[in-house]
Amino acid sequence: MPPTVLVTGGAGYIGSHTVLQLLLGGFRVVVVDNLYNSSETAVQRVKELAARFGGNLSFHKLDLRDGPALEKLFSSTRFDAVIHFAGLKAVGESVQKPLLYFDNNINGTITLLKVMANHGCKKLVFSSSATVYGWPKKVPCTEEFSLVAMNPYARTKLIAEEMCRDQYRADPEWKIILLRYFNPVGAHPSGYIGEDPRGIPNNLMPFVQQVAVGRQPALTVYGTDYSTKDGTGVRDYIHVVDLADGHIAALHKLDESGVGCEEYNLGTGKGTSVLEMVKAFEKASGKKIPLVMAGRRPGDAEIVYASTERAARELKWKAKYGIEEMCRDQWNWASKNPYGYGSPENNR
Ligand code: NAD
Ligand code: WQD
Repeated sequence: MPPTVLVTGGAGYIGSHTVLQLLLGGFRVVVVDNLYNSSETAVQRVKELAARFGGNLSFHKLDLRDGPALEKLFSSTRFDAVIHFAGLKAVGESVQKPLLYFDNNINGTITLLKVMANHGCKKLVFSSSATVYGWPKKVPCTEEFSLVAMNPYARTKLIAEEMCRDQYRADPEWKIILLRYFNPVGAHPSGYIGEDPRGIPNNLMPFVQQVAVGRQPALTVYGTDYSTKDGTGVRDYIHVVDLADGHIAALHKLDESGVGCEEYNLGTGKGTSVLEMVKAFEKASGKKIPLVMAGRRPGDAEIVYASTERAARELKWKAKYGIEEMCRDQWNWASKNPYGYGSPENNR
């Protein structure tokens, strides 16, 4: 019997790519998602991409805060491990609606941990974020850096990390891996699955993509006076398929002895500026991205990129793709699916 993994938020951007890699890696996968920020079409497409492994995937439309529904699922299936992606992730929205973020992200995680504990399922991979480093005083960010939340979204990640560390201290049979993602971009090379944010995108590359397909007139560049090579902000962009593979590496790590509650950065270790990223996308797409230069976005850090040493050493995982492949695959997805999983009439 292949190992069975529960994936919360598996219909979403990173979740769908991870589910595909899990299926191709021989795992059985059960996805739960309330489809708040995703479409069931993504799950269907993953099934198709997984070909003969597609039968190992099942989907339940379920809100993670619904304890009884989660209990029922755990009573009917024995899960070897859980990968927990489900959460809200828009920084600006979290500032406007902090209670929504605490309710969804914190209560969702508490419900999940409780139900896991009730059923003796003690292996967890959690989606944390580089946002827990706040505005780092130096780079690259190592996992030992002090943690700080600059907004309610980041606070939900920090609290969830602390809950995981506390749960492990209380019961050392738990094995938990906290993955701190840097900036996931790109799409599966098939162009069949990708990122499809609801409303106007907050993040750089989904916005660039919408400019390229004519859904937005121009990209606003937030800040041209940073102490960086060209004055624009620098980030560590990572191909979503590399990120997905990092989760498979984490699951294998959970099978080793001596694992407690561990933190790992998932990034490339390379910093790229906004203008470099735009240039790479223009090259990959052949489209001109009109720019509007503007002031800094409140709360933005200047330069953030990862130290990748711990993940390379302990997870035996390293990102394979560079920004050319990220932009190529993002454009492949965008040009084939200019309205994501929707349509011009039904534009989520
Ligand atoms: P996403 O919005 O595409 O996926 C999240 C999924 O969770 C969605 O399908 C959504 O419908 C689902 N969901 C949300 N709340 C739920 C609930 N209460 N019950 C059930 N399902 C629920 O986002 P993503 O980019 O794939 O991010 C996945 C995880 O990674 C999130 O926890 C996010 O905070 C984290 N993360 C994302 C980034 C990024 O830039 N994309 C960076 C660092 C960390
Ligand atoms: C990247 C760069 C912007 C949009 C956010 C979250 C973080 C994590 C990843 C989840 C910055 C610039 C952006 C635009 C721009 N998510 N930019 N014009 O800010 O590094 O991180 O997403 O955990 O928590 O804070 O990513 O893609 O928003 O911005 O100039 O329209 O692009 O100023 O320099 P960020 P981003």
